[in-house]
Amino acid sequence: MGEAVKLPMRRGFGATDRIDAWWKGPTAMAIYLGIMVAYSTWRGFMEADFWIFSEFGRSAGVQTMAIENQGSHVLSPLFSPLILPGGDGLGGPIPEFLWWMSPAMFILIFPAGFRGTCYYYRKAYYRAFFQQPTACAVSKPWNEYKGETKLLLVQNLHRYFMYAALAYLPILSYDVLLSTHFEGGSWGFSVGTLVLALNVILLTGYTIGCHAFRHLVGGGSNDWTSSGLARFKYKLWSFSTYLNTHHKEWALYSLFWVMFADFYIYACTMGWWTDIVLWGGL
Ligand code: FES
Repeated sequence: MGEAVKLPMRRGFGATDRIDAWWKGPTAMAIYLGIMVAYSTWRGFMEADFWIFSEFGRSAGVQTMAIENQGSHVLSPLFSPLILPGGDGLGGPIPEFLWWMSPAMFILIFPAGFRGTCYYYRKAYYRAFFQQPTACAVSKPWNEYKGETKLLLVQNLHRYFMYAALAYLPILSYDVLLSTHFEGGSWGFSVGTLVLALNVILLTGYTIGCHAFRHLVGGGSNDWTSSGLARFKYKLWSFSTYLNTHHKEWALYSLFWVMFADFYIYACTMGWWTDIVLWGGL
């Protein structure tokens, strides 16, 4: 057995012999993720303006659930599936002591948990926020590396969050369908429909390309050909592998689009933008 050779390494936070702009990536990521987390937290506390839906108008009062638009039903993905706490016939079966929560608070733990434990995001935010490591061959502020132990064992929950993320895909697809059903029973689609549809496509690419999903469909297989099911699993595994090679892009673009879809709906409910009906409708 050869002995491990320690490469020379400069000491001191950020010290390195690298001459490239190694700090650009982690800095950009810290800004990007910081904005996304801040925005989703801000929206997560809101109890209004997440649904372009004519049955609930601003006249509903302080706790307005949506705003009148053009009869389309475009629900923000940050609030789907919609769980309304509270009374007045609007609320779901939520105990009264939880009525202070916004609809988003009931569900955001699942997408947030999925992304927070994602293998790609771990690398991104370990570097961007915790300098663990700062970058390859760049000295970090602390020497200890304990790996994902102790509290970080929670990262092992990723595969379970993945099941929840899979369940979201049909729910969000249903929201796309719902957005084509206008008040009064007519059908059509608006820009909001396209925004929601692209959101489903990006989230599907991100979820199906997940390392845990890839393992789920192909991890235990030694046989790809002996039956129709084996061949189907191989196709699914191959597709997941294909998406997985661009998992970073799926992760970043889908995150941006979820936030943009929510902002689009927020901007429409505030009257800044109009959800233009492209076909059909009222
Ligand atoms: S590894 Fe990124 S979503 Fe599973």
